[in-house]
Amino acid sequence: MNPKYKPLFEPYTFPNGISLKNRMIMAPMTNFSSNEDGSVTDAEVNYYARRSKGVSMVVTACTYVTPDGKGFKGEFGADTDDMIPSLQKLASAIKEQGAKAILQIFHGGRECPPDLVPNGEIVSASDVPSERGNGKAPRALSGDEVETIILAFGETTRRAIEAGYDGVEIHGANGYLIQQFFSPHSNRREDKWGGSLDKRLAFPLAVVDEVKKVTAKYAKEPFIIGYRFSPEEPETPGITMADTLQLIDALADKNLDYLHVSLNDFWSKPKRGLEDSRSRMEIIQERVGQKVPVIGVGSLYSADDVLKAFDTSVPLIALGRELIIDPDWVEKVETGREAEIETEIDLGAQTRLVVPDPLWQAIVNTPGWFPGVK
Ligand SMILES: Cc1cc2nc3c(=O)[nH]c(=O)nc-3n(C[C@H](O)[C@H](O)[C@H](O)COP(=O)(O)O)c2cc1C
Repeated sequence: MNPKYKPLFEPYTFPNGISLKNRMIMAPMTNFSSNEDGSVTDAEVNYYARRSKGVSMVVTACTYVTPDGKGFKGEFGADTDDMIPSLQKLASAIKEQGAKAILQIFHGGRECPPDLVPNGEIVSASDVPSERGNGKAPRALSGDEVETIILAFGETTRRAIEAGYDGVEIHGANGYLIQQFFSPHSNRREDKWGGSLDKRLAFPLAVVDEVKKVTAKYAKEPFIIGYRFSPEEPETPGITMADTLQLIDALADKNLDYLHVSLNDFWSKPKRGLEDSRSRMEIIQERVGQKVPVIGVGSLYSADDVLKAFDTSVPLIALGRELIIDPDWVEKVETGREAEIETEIDLGAQTRLVVPDPLWQAIVNTPGWFPGVK
């Protein structure tokens, strides 16, 4: 290995004592490839196994905690105990290659396609339609239903423990239900779950508390609990960088094992809410990095890109598209072959890259999403 890349390969120990062999993590990526009943397919298990050797930790694609939270065709399920064998299959495939396996737990809220949820009825904090996807007005959840979904995040955590995962990541990012409760765009409630910023925080924090409670009850060994968030929303009203500082202050007091920032560009800068010319990552790291480890991500294609990202003092870096494009990204750096890293998708290499058909189709049919697809 070129010694300058040593920082990528320093071991890392989480506050709860679990150690990672290096600083490189596979970012959560939906692959649209599970069976109709929510069980994982061999194709997706093979896809994960192919990418779990170099990185120290793999965060799975998101999995729904209740049937009305299914956000993608071919998303895998974790909403009943019947799914435990399927969840186990995925955890084992990842762990057999030497990485820690983290299950990303999720509810899609108003972003769910109506044809994927029971009775076509989508739900959210309030009845405000999304400006992003289907545009259909969701039904506002009743107070009892909110409590049921919080418990479902806990139940899915128990299943993750039983299935052998090393942890869960609470998906509070990318505009899905947990973020919908924090957002002034989608949350217009006037009960204890909405109104002031503090009340909009109540649902995300209640999910964290429930996941922690279940973990304390069922996990026999240290179990990682992470939380992913998006720092800003494009909508007006919408979450601003100033709101996010309040969110992460509250999360940092929860003794989580990590916070994971969801960004497409690691170096992107705040758009609203803060007069600060630094990147969002630097601001977040400065604000809470001493209290909770932060994972950074976003368009870090080369070994030098990742090295530079570590200058921000962020301890861990996730790679998403980079690992689809080149499953050997980490091993190449580790063995001094960083110049051989592929940074554009080879459109003739689906079999070599071990990518399931539905994910491959999504990649090749979405111009601009992946480098190499015009
Ligand atoms: C195919 C694909 C699926 C994704 N699915 C998820 C997901 O299930 N959960 C999530 O939090 N982020 C998801 N993301 C976002 C990635 O985790 C990551 O933040 C983003 O791709 C930017 O990182 P990158 O430049 O390393 O790819 C997805 C991204 C891609 C490309």
